[in-house]
Amino acid sequence: MRAEITVFVLIIAFGFVTKAQVFDVTLTPRCAEVELMAKLKAEKLDGQWYEISRSPNPWERGNCIQVRHWLENGTKWWMHWEQLIPGFDKQGREVAGRDSYDQAYSIGTPQNVIANISMQFIWPRVFLPLPFYILSTDYENYYLAYSCFPYFFNEGPLKGIPFLAESAWIMSRKRSMDIGLYFVLKNKLEENGINVSVMEISKHSNCNYEMHRDNSPTVQTDSPKKST
Ligand SMILES: *[C@@H]1O[C@H](CO)[C@@H](O)[C@H](O)[C@H]1NC(C)=O
Ligand SMILES: *[C@@H]1O[C@H](CO)[C@@H](O)[C@H](O)[C@H]1NC(C)=O
Ligand SMILES: *[C@@H]1O[C@H](CO)[C@@H](O)[C@H](O)[C@H]1NC(C)=O
Repeated sequence: MRAEITVFVLIIAFGFVTKAQVFDVTLTPRCAEVELMAKLKAEKLDGQWYEISRSPNPWERGNCIQVRHWLENGTKWWMHWEQLIPGFDKQGREVAGRDSYDQAYSIGTPQNVIANISMQFIWPRVFLPLPFYILSTDYENYYLAYSCFPYFFNEGPLKGIPFLAESAWIMSRKRSMDIGLYFVLKNKLEENGINVSVMEISKHSNCNYEMHRDNSPTVQTDSPKKST
């Protein structure tokens, strides 16, 4: 039986979560045994991608989530990830948070870039590489990704207790996706043993303002604007 408990936790570990935030985490006893994309041509993933759907996770709190990939020297796979955290006006109404996006960079395996990728986050700094699996892609329209790794609560009554941080993503070359393709892809995730019923649709409204501070495929180490 799957032991699943929904808990409220405060996470401050990943640097871009700049203030304590409350979120749900689903505890799963083990990671899904996923089938990886065979013969991944990582260079063909180069360019801009947009998140269509994700499993809830502590690190993605914003809207307009987009990711850029590029392959450096044929070996190092980069990820430049952005989200817009909405701002709020004095009445508590959501307003476009132009100044309040966060960003992260990560690097792939230095040897062969394969579908089983270890991502080393350099912003925010995470000491251990985190797994990032590419399950499927046609390079032109979509890719499916999955990650699952042990993590631990660092606040609250469950402090120190490990859990599996598990998430799946449906990514698109556009901010939208054909509904037929979307259901095909959700089905593929399910076939991999991933619980798709918890997946949520990523919001892409009011994304028509500048998100990129850095459009060049180079490392940027200055701190992102705080989302406070
Ligand atoms: C890529 O190649 C250039 C030129 O040979 C070199 O300066 C650079 O350090 C290399 N980068 C990596 C990540 O190996
Ligand atoms: C990915 O590679 C790591 C290290 O070799 C291995 O432990 C893990 O089982 C692999 N994951 C998958 C899904 O193949
Ligand atoms: C998927 O997750 C939901 C919510 O946590 C749970 O109710 C459901 O039983 C899960 N499904 C499977 C197949 O584990």
